[in-house]
Amino acid sequence: MSILNVSNLGVQFRTNDGMVNAVNGLTFELNQGQTLGIVGESGSGKSQSVLAMMGLLAKNGTASGEALFHGQNLLTMSPRELNRIRGDRISMIFQDPMTSLNPYLTVERQMTEVLELHKGMSRRTAKKRAIELLDAVRIPEAARRVNMYPHEFSGGMRQRVMIAMALLCEPEVLVADEPTTALDVTVQAQILSLLKDLQRDFGTAIIMITHDLGVVAGLCDKVMVMYGGRVMEHADADHIFYRPTHPYTIGLLGALPHLEANDDELTSIPGNPPNLAHMPKGCPFAERCTHARAGCADTIPPLVAIDGGALRACHIPVAELTVDNKEAAHV
Ligand SMILES: Nc1ncnc2c1ncn2[C@@H]1O[C@H](COP(=O)(O)OP(=O)(O)O)[C@@H](O)[C@H]1O
Ligand SMILES: [Mg+2]
Repeated sequence: MSILNVSNLGVQFRTNDGMVNAVNGLTFELNQGQTLGIVGESGSGKSQSVLAMMGLLAKNGTASGEALFHGQNLLTMSPRELNRIRGDRISMIFQDPMTSLNPYLTVERQMTEVLELHKGMSRRTAKKRAIELLDAVRIPEAARRVNMYPHEFSGGMRQRVMIAMALLCEPEVLVADEPTTALDVTVQAQILSLLKDLQRDFGTAIIMITHDLGVVAGLCDKVMVMYGGRVMEHADADHIFYRPTHPYTIGLLGALPHLEANDDELTSIPGNPPNLAHMPKGCPFAERCTHARAGCADTIPPLVAIDGGALRACHIPVAELTVDNKEAAHV
């Protein structure tokens, strides 16, 4: 069942350099229990895409297009309606847990408050539920720790608390914006496996935003690769990892560290993402693309389906790309 249907979502910001388009023509569907990865370097428009849907853009930003949640357009909803959906049916977690945790309240109070308010639970039932959820995110000695303040937890544990908070109302969609970026590799792996288990147990659909393709491997069903505010490639995760057809995806895969690699094998894409205030008129990636040719810098390639159902926005025919799948095979 499709929960979220986003079509032609755009985000514009008013700036001193004029209007900038941070997100253009974003279209995707999210089904119940599915995980969608949104991947791209910093500044690609990943966060603004979801913030737009949640009605959380900065004051100078406006959203266009449509984001239907069970058929209701989030973009035109009243703040009151949107508020009810946000946190209750769609939850967000961020890189920094302290953006959603209150430092002055114990974890118990923060969690029970939500349950009393949204679910009409008694304080006692709410506390029991809070402890169950802390257990579910594998916080040891949850019954004792529920009385602690956020700062008394380690970074990884705090991230678990935030995930437990996000799951309080059993949301249908969990939006995770770089949830593991600040964590070391081991803790990162633990949190990712936790999200996977929670999805299995709770059936939550997840939108996982990350600049690191490695994070979405093994977690996502579908992956959308963004660059310069546009979707470059959108396909099943297997396709993205084993048969990438966009030079940007191929570049990102090359930048992916794998176990066998030592550091000097690690390559990243030379150059930097474009400045939104001075976007090239053609393909946003053309400047950094090793495959670019005449015409790439002149017109924006449309996002079109290729054999097998993947979508790609690239002027270069797939057959002409030399894909080194050696990288992908390590994922
Ligand atoms: N309040 C704002 N005003 C102007 N431009 C903004 C604002 N917020 C974000 N942007 C622009 O949107 C771009 C995409 O941002 P974002 O979606 O946060 O990137 P990321 O892919 O790293 O999450 C940024 O590079 C920035 O140029
Ligand atoms: Mg971001």
